[in-house]
Amino acid sequence: MAARRLFFALWPAPDVRAALEAAAAPVREHCSGSLVPVDNFHITLRFMGNVAEDRLEALLGAGDAATGRQFDLPLERVGFWDKPAVVWLGPRNPGDELLRLVANLNTELESAGFGPDPRPYRPHLTLLRKAERGPEQLYLDRRVTWPVANFSLIESETRPDGPVYTPLKTWPLNPPDAE
Ligand code: 2AM
Repeated sequence: MAARRLFFALWPAPDVRAALEAAAAPVREHCSGSLVPVDNFHITLRFMGNVAEDRLEALLGAGDAATGRQFDLPLERVGFWDKPAVVWLGPRNPGDELLRLVANLNTELESAGFGPDPRPYRPHLTLLRKAERGPEQLYLDRRVTWPVANFSLIESETRPDGPVYTPLKTWPLNPPDAE
């Protein structure tokens, strides 16, 4: 059976992408390596891997059932994972609403028959891979605050010139003061 490579993510609007690109430019210039295209910037909520076509409906149902509230996500921490030589951007603290959303999504995925995520959740936005050197700074000079109002299911397709990510469905988050 055909399978699709899928993940749930926060997918930034164009103005947030542009702000992230500008704020991260000095880090990307310093570290060099393989830059993630700005159009691919995202923060994964839950990586699903290959999902069989006949499970797609259940997966979309879990996304429909998941709930969360809108929140502001300040991104300022510059991180480095040594072994894959990945440089990323993240929040100083993940924040309750982000963690609640991920937990709620995982609960709905388990109810729909998807196994738990074997890896600890580390919210990050990959800026570049195969870094030639690690970042010199722990924090951006100017933080970018991303107003998060929705989350998406993204399909990842591997092409010769890199992955192409396509949002398949986007779900709104509730206003902050909603019950
Ligand atoms: P990364 O950017 O740190 O590689 C699509 O691949 C998204 O899912 C990326 O944000 C990737 O994180 C994330 N991801 C999480 N677990 C993954 C895994 N086991 N394999 C590939 N990507 C994974």
